[in-house]
Amino acid sequence: MKILAIGTGAREHAIVHSLDRENVTGVAVHELHAAPGNPGIAAAATLHEVDPLDGAAVAALAERLGAELVVVGPEAPLVAGVADSVRAAGIPVFGPSGEAARLEGSKSFAKEVMAAAGVPTAMAHVCTDATEVAAALDAFGAPYVVKDDGLAAGKGVVVTDDREAALAHGEACLANENGRVVVEEYLDGPEVSLFCVCDGATVVPLVPAQDFKRVGNDDEGPNTGGMGAYTPLDWAPSGLVDEVVARIAQPTVDEMARRGTPFSGVLYVGLALTSRGTRVVEFNARFGDPETQSVLARLATPLSEVMLAAARGTLAELEPLRWRPEASVTVVVASEGYPASARSGDPITGIEDAESLAGVHVLHAGTGLSETGELVSAGGRVLSVVALGRDLADARRRAYEGVAKIDLKGSHHRTDIALKAERGEVAVS
Ligand code: AMP
Ligand code: GLY
Repeated sequence: MKILAIGTGAREHAIVHSLDRENVTGVAVHELHAAPGNPGIAAAATLHEVDPLDGAAVAALAERLGAELVVVGPEAPLVAGVADSVRAAGIPVFGPSGEAARLEGSKSFAKEVMAAAGVPTAMAHVCTDATEVAAALDAFGAPYVVKDDGLAAGKGVVVTDDREAALAHGEACLANENGRVVVEEYLDGPEVSLFCVCDGATVVPLVPAQDFKRVGNDDEGPNTGGMGAYTPLDWAPSGLVDEVVARIAQPTVDEMARRGTPFSGVLYVGLALTSRGTRVVEFNARFGDPETQSVLARLATPLSEVMLAAARGTLAELEPLRWRPEASVTVVVASEGYPASARSGDPITGIEDAESLAGVHVLHAGTGLSETGELVSAGGRVLSVVALGRDLADARRRAYEGVAKIDLKGSHHRTDIALKAERGEVAVS
């Protein structure tokens, strides 16, 4: 199959890597293309320049290539309606319409859909001025949760005990164009990411994963796009996936269909397993980064079959997904200064050494090529080092051996990805 993947991150590299593995193992013959892609993706796919937010340009590229499937990775093109343009050109596309992607693009819209579908989530007030924000903060009390209503690349949320900081974040969000703020009840308990593949009607869950959003060990410091992830979650209640599909994903997909804006692609259900039950923290309209790197490493069913069935509306006919028994750990290597800033242009070495370790592969995110063709850093989250191992301890050990081989001046990473799970210290109260 000719497949075009849109995006530049490690999530897109993970997708292309999985598709390429189908070529390597001989289960399929794919011609892989990516736009804009990155130097890591270029090892398996032909790269094309395109503005990923320009639906007409993406559709034209797909037509020119004769693509039989287009995969739109990141949220911004989805919210901009890029999948609609590709679909309108008659090409199967993995990713929701712009209307359906509002489940991620507007937190207040997501809350409205959840309320209509009876989906359990944090109580919330949508505020349009500072007085309303202050009143909502006082109604819920500390810890305060204040969210920008629109897309903010994982940086629109502040969770704090400091009322002044909560109010200041609320005011900063209000100052944006169409500024609206969602103030929420605080959800305690461990977080889980569950990706549900959807085709507008049918929901097929992948395996749950856990993501590490704070920059520092022990969840210290500011939020990031995600510093690491692992799966499986041996500590999670056994019926969790069935419960989430029955009470959250399927009712949401049904509600979106009822509204005439069916959801297809990945419904990313971000959950908190609180002392009062399972609650939705957020919906995203795409695969999560870095959870995808860990989850896809374990998927034994060819990814292309899953994505094509979602794009064509035939998920109900798909065989049950097959999974590798190993555990998978992803550690993100970030550039100096991330997330406040990101140093660029520093040489990166050691990737081949890391990949020579058993079970380890390295996915690119913020990488680029210098004028002399040398691999250099070009963003905040630079690489994802992914390892499979017989259990979490083994996968962690391999992932960190891989990280140790990478040389990038000033880079940093968390050293505690999956550590509490390995030690049996994650608990649902
Ligand atoms: P979001 O962009 O909504 O996913 O929020 C980013 C992160 O902020 C989440 O992954 C949580 O760690 C945290 N967060 C968001 N909402 C809440 C909440 N209601 N209670 C506690 N933490 C939250
Ligand atoms: N891992 C968090 C996200 O992709 O939004």
